[in-house]
Amino acid sequence: MHTSDLIATDIEQYLRQHEHKSLLRFITCGSVDDGKSTLIGRLLYESKMLFEDQLAAVEADSKKYGTQGDNIDFALLVDGLAAEREQGITIDVAYRFFSTDKRKFIVADTPGHEQYTRNMVTGASTADVAVLMVDARKGILTQTRRHSYLVSLIGIRHIVVAINKMDLVDYAEKTFRRIVEDYREFAARIGITDITFIPMSAFKGDNITAPSDNMPWYHGTTLMGYLETVEVDETRQQQLPFRMPVQWVNRPNLDFRGFAGTIASGIVQPGDRIRVQPSGKESTVARIVTYDGDLPRAVAGQSVTLALSDEIDISRGDVISTAAAPAGSADQFETTVVWMHEEPLLPGRPYLLKIGTKTVTATVTDIKYQVNVNTLEHIAAKKLELNAIGVCNISLDRQIAFDPYADNKDTGGYILIDRLSNNTVGAGLLHFALRRAHNIHMQHVDVDKAARSAMKGQKACVLWFTGLSGAGKSTIANLVEKKLHAAGRHTYLLDGDNVRHGLNKDLGFTDADRVENIRRVAEVARLMTDAGLIVITAFISPFRSERRMARGLVAEGEFLEIFVDTPLEIAEERDPKGLYKKARKGELKNFTGIDSPYEAPEAPEVRLDTTRLTLEGAAEVVIDALRERGVIA
Ligand code: ADX
Repeated sequence: MHTSDLIATDIEQYLRQHEHKSLLRFITCGSVDDGKSTLIGRLLYESKMLFEDQLAAVEADSKKYGTQGDNIDFALLVDGLAAEREQGITIDVAYRFFSTDKRKFIVADTPGHEQYTRNMVTGASTADVAVLMVDARKGILTQTRRHSYLVSLIGIRHIVVAINKMDLVDYAEKTFRRIVEDYREFAARIGITDITFIPMSAFKGDNITAPSDNMPWYHGTTLMGYLETVEVDETRQQQLPFRMPVQWVNRPNLDFRGFAGTIASGIVQPGDRIRVQPSGKESTVARIVTYDGDLPRAVAGQSVTLALSDEIDISRGDVISTAAAPAGSADQFETTVVWMHEEPLLPGRPYLLKIGTKTVTATVTDIKYQVNVNTLEHIAAKKLELNAIGVCNISLDRQIAFDPYADNKDTGGYILIDRLSNNTVGAGLLHFALRRAHNIHMQHVDVDKAARSAMKGQKACVLWFTGLSGAGKSTIANLVEKKLHAAGRHTYLLDGDNVRHGLNKDLGFTDADRVENIRRVAEVARLMTDAGLIVITAFISPFRSERRMARGLVAEGEFLEIFVDTPLEIAEERDPKGLYKKARKGELKNFTGIDSPYEAPEAPEVRLDTTRLTLEGAAEVVIDALRERGVIA
């Protein structure tokens, strides 16, 4: 009986059948037009998961939008969104479910469009098999190499190279053989070993479920045959050491405290000795609690609440491990980063890093190299552009529990999030903790900021001036310092042009260099506030992200962002150093306001409108703001 008939007539029987079938997760990837959507539509159709009404709709749509004459255009079934149909590309990762008599399948359809590497990485992270679509007419393309590299990076073990559109090359064996050879050569270099090549036509149905009469020279498996029989290691995650990231602490009353989460790997039983990372504290599992009562045992994939036999401090984001083979704990790593955003990754810029249930602040301290995914060469890089893959050192603001990605995908993989927009901008795999992290500890000092500023009779703080070149930052900052100095305050002025003659003389004006410029200045400003000083900085500091980072380095209330608000036209008219003129003539590249951006502050503590204020007046406004905040009496 067909699956669809069974659903209609005996749903119980249908569900029972499904319960005992194994589940295969796979992804399809390839370039636009390689025929992924057609293939998935075909698989759904052939597995009889299409219902009559859906089929009727597709038939109607095929006439309206279809590119396939009177035949059914299966791609329309899959490219569900109207917008996609009109654009003719697939945009998000779409998960689809189908089943045959032998197996259940979840397929992640990932877009082939160059800029959607992100979606591919998302779809691939849980897959057992990757089906790489290749257009027989075009052979192995950059996209195919990129996707193969990503697939191997992510750790998918089985690869099908689906050489599609064989009908358009007269089902020629020679064409198939040539593509196989090309691909093998590339695959060998990235260490992919389990590859199955299938010549097919998703559109005509050759070698999808039934062996094709059009290609008698091919004796291998059909695609469905492969998917139904390839070995799936459903228990692989269970065989790894026990790990559970804590999602929340469940404390309904004073007598019960449980730690809820989804088990990432391994098995847990009452009586098991556990260790909590990053704290390193140990205890024993007392109970495994679920809504349906206590369990004698729980495995990877299950959501449970663990009650422990000791009162130990555990918070969301911590990882509970088996004490016999616990996760590591560190705050600096070597890592591979896949960058997925139009704005490049810049070393020194802070991002949020989310691993398991924990979110911390992370900075790439060093890009060791970028990988050219076509040639696999290592190339030097100062930033990572959209779709770039780089090996980097990364530094976090706190310790996290982790495993190397190669050992455990769940506790070794993370995403990077932009702190301002909250967009996912990258994904990464942890290689190992850096040794220097083990050997450097914070040294306690007895004379601290409070003691130092008390002796100076003031409150330490940072007055962070930002604005265009020629806005008046340096001049106003200088006046402010003079006034403070005259009033007996202990101050220090860090000025852009001056610092660039010394500490930062190695830096230019690319985005990456500006980020590093501000990172160093922010760190110096932090040290100086720690010394009890009123620190005044005058830098363009064009990016919100770095100003926010500078703010985050000192205590709440110690940072005053002062926006010297001078419109570009006026700064350009003043042009005190003649730099705007040079920039307009093209003699000076990356000039702020001309061909390099300035992101104005959204909520500065002080805004100085220099079109209305005199310089003296502007300095007074700053002094008033300091009085108001009790920094000076
Ligand atoms: S920042 O962008 O990294 O914060 P910073 O404040 O240190 O810049 O330096 C800006 C000063 O460098 C300007 O006032 C100007 O005198 C000089 N300068 C030279 N080239 C450039 C440039 N391409 N863009 C901006 N300023 C430049």
